[in-house]
Amino acid sequence: MMRDFECKNGVMMIAGKSAVELVEEFGSPIYVCDEARIRENYRNIHGAFSRYMDTKIHYACKANTSLAVLRILEQEGSGIDAVSIGEVKTCLKAGFTPDRIMYTGVNVSDKELKEVADLGVMINIDSISEMERLAKISPQHEISFRITPGVGSGHSDKVITGSKGAKFGIPLREVIGTYARAKDLGFKIKGIHAHIGSGGQSVEPFLDMMQVIVDLVNEIKELGIDLEFIDMGGGIGVPYKPQEDEMDLNELASEITDMIEQQTDIKTLILEPGRYIVCDAVVLLTKVNDVKDAGTKKYIGCDAGFNTLIRPAFYDSFHYVAMANKFGKACVSRYDVVGPICESGDYMAHDRVLPEPVEGDIIAVYNAGAYGFSMSSNYNSRPLCGEVLVNDGKAELIREPETIEELWRHQRIPERLMK
Ligand code: LLP
Repeated sequence: MMRDFECKNGVMMIAGKSAVELVEEFGSPIYVCDEARIRENYRNIHGAFSRYMDTKIHYACKANTSLAVLRILEQEGSGIDAVSIGEVKTCLKAGFTPDRIMYTGVNVSDKELKEVADLGVMINIDSISEMERLAKISPQHEISFRITPGVGSGHSDKVITGSKGAKFGIPLREVIGTYARAKDLGFKIKGIHAHIGSGGQSVEPFLDMMQVIVDLVNEIKELGIDLEFIDMGGGIGVPYKPQEDEMDLNELASEITDMIEQQTDIKTLILEPGRYIVCDAVVLLTKVNDVKDAGTKKYIGCDAGFNTLIRPAFYDSFHYVAMANKFGKACVSRYDVVGPICESGDYMAHDRVLPEPVEGDIIAVYNAGAYGFSMSSNYNSRPLCGEVLVNDGKAELIREPETIEELWRHQRIPERLMK
């Protein structure tokens, strides 16, 4: 079931702090992050798998790269799945040592490969081209390969990554030849990796993918290569709707680890959850600026739009919304919750029953922790919003809202245009 929140005197409480006070103190829109929930989610997923076999969590930081969030996960003992040199350096800044980071890039430049290699970060190679280029840059490097398992899953076609013909990974027919070549090139070959996609809710595709991987592990062993780990990627979905079921983590963990233990000598499993760890730990609070009855539709116009949270506009994703200052109050009518961006695709929620809105009300958008802030933009020249961390009723600003002046900081106007 989707996570719900406590109500005190008609107001939504987030980690012991009132949503109304948070907006008064820190402004709107604001991402509010519940520290304890991140820790709980991390421990849940790590615990579910490590009961059965040695498991390392490599948090997929693309979901949320805020330094305070990374610090929390560093303290928990997590590793990192990073996709870019920017993510690698951000995680180093947050205190992760290079040996806790794995880099899985796609279509990366030689310059970036060299930077990552020089930092001593393990590289999960996505293509034969990347392998040949890395062999010239860092021949003895610790590597694994991302393979295309031919199995895909996800909440939208835009985030399915494992199907045959995908842009990602070594195509199945080339996997064995590629491992043989990597051995000849002198790489330290550590593992095998696949990622089927993001936000899928069923266990089966993970099992289908794992069968492909364990078969490959045994074929690779015949080449004289003993792999240390299997990395099954991320992609574990979470409920975005109140009554939606959660994926059965225990079933997933027991079946996956059983396959590995029964069919291979592999002793370590790596998992790369992003969404699972941060998604329901963050709520986006946005103030109602405007209320409109357009005849066929009623609108609640907020100060957060697809510049702040792009998932509804981009993937048609469902995010549950509630009126944080009239929490639990009777709903009177259906509304579209929309933002300040000048496009009709700018919406947060369609056709939701909510209490009667007035200007100044506060809408809470649930499940905003994964791919929320990290995908936000400056479109319509709107500065990025702030972030707050709440723990035990205490709130701390972890990201200042950007200023309008900062939008111009990297721009230059050629002198001749100034006349
Ligand atoms: N590992 C790899 C190699 C990945 O490409 C991804 C996500 C993950 C792990 C983490 O997946 P997760 O556990 O978070 O599902 N922006 C989209 C999601 C894109 C995910 C891309 N790759 C969204 O808002 O739903």
